[in-house]
Amino acid sequence: MLTSAPNLLRVQRALTRPAQRAYHDVVTLPSSKPVISSGPPGYSAVSGHRVTVFGCTGFLGRYLVSKLGKLGTQVIVPYRDEDEARLLKPMGDLGQIVRMEWDIRNENQIAECLRHSDIVINLVGRDYETKNFNYSDVHVDGAERIASLAAKNGVSRFIQVSHLNASLNSPSKFYATKAEGEERVKAAFPTATIVRPGTLFGYEDKLLTNMAVWPIWWKLNHGETKIRPVHVMDVAQALANLVFVPQLAGTINLPGPSTLTYEYLLELVSSVTLQPSSRAPVLPKAVASALAKASQAVWWPSLSPDEVQRRYMDDSDVVGDWDVVGIQPAEIEEYAITYLRRYRSADNFVRPVVFPPRPSIAIN
Ligand SMILES: NC(=O)c1ccc[n+]([C@@H]2O[C@H](COP(=O)([O-])OP(=O)(O)OC[C@H]3O[C@@H](n4cnc5c(N)ncnc54)[C@H](OP(=O)(O)O)[C@@H]3O)[C@@H](O)[C@H]2O)c1
Repeated sequence: MLTSAPNLLRVQRALTRPAQRAYHDVVTLPSSKPVISSGPPGYSAVSGHRVTVFGCTGFLGRYLVSKLGKLGTQVIVPYRDEDEARLLKPMGDLGQIVRMEWDIRNENQIAECLRHSDIVINLVGRDYETKNFNYSDVHVDGAERIASLAAKNGVSRFIQVSHLNASLNSPSKFYATKAEGEERVKAAFPTATIVRPGTLFGYEDKLLTNMAVWPIWWKLNHGETKIRPVHVMDVAQALANLVFVPQLAGTINLPGPSTLTYEYLLELVSSVTLQPSSRAPVLPKAVASALAKASQAVWWPSLSPDEVQRRYMDDSDVVGDWDVVGIQPAEIEEYAITYLRRYRSADNFVRPVVFPPRPSIAIN
């Protein structure tokens, strides 16, 4: 029995030998760098691509890194706070997730982060201004700096994540700077792909979870503001799919499948969490803005005056480009219980879900 063991091992190895590489495993990028894939599909594969994800430590970034890691792509994850990047490490096979410290104003560090990559994805963005960074520093100068360094270092593809409502003429500084950032990126990296997602929902979102805790701030405009929420997983998968599209200059809009009002979403949160609807009053815009302005004195993130302005703005009604990225976006009701169950009381924890009727505003 012992003597046959090596033979059995040889048979086993022959059976499980990875498939031979073929010509289709080699892709030559416009920069002449070859991308060679190998190995079995999945976590232990080697897709051959090397992607730097700026803004990887945020809500969308974590899901994107996880999806890229599962495809066997080496991901460079620039971080400011080491603890924020620690959870990204097991999202890929050994050596596939590479952490590097960076500062958005430090060109050497940015260049170091993207020097060996063939794709750069920029997710950096902030909903509010801080004493160190205003919207322009992050969305305009930061994006331009990354794009021009990517172009200078021979990166083949640049993907800039903007916002569905980005517009140069927007009364919201956040949306206006997002649009200005897009223009600067296109000037620095002409073949860049601009991705414009709608408001994201998911575990760490600032939509459903915030509505469950702070309904008063979602009653502004009498809850009549219309948005097109989109599942964070769908946007992360769309970005991961883009890695395998050789070139795609232009803008891709990724709104959610339905247009819904804040009022409906508040009802949805209340029915799913089995908590009574909020009786908070509807604040006039001037009062909400003044409160938001006063709250900027605290040192933790609070609702900014620009966010109050955004609560009065409907989402853009452009057509979604989901077919380009090969995804069918999910409806918010499909996942509401997953993200909201934690707001149920212990008595109601396992009760069935009953959705409120959808208002006539819903397009789909
Ligand atoms: N969430 C949405 O509903 C939504 C909708 C449409 C578009 N978007 C856009 O999608 C992108 C990702 O959104 P998200 O929800 O994942 O945002 P997020 O959770 O706020 O994460 C933002 C990321 O940007 C980084 N960042 C912010 N300011 C920075 C600075 N001054 N220097 C260096 N890094 C900085 C953060 O790094 P730290 O962890 O170090 O702070 C973090 O990694 C953003 O551009 C956002 O505008 C979001």
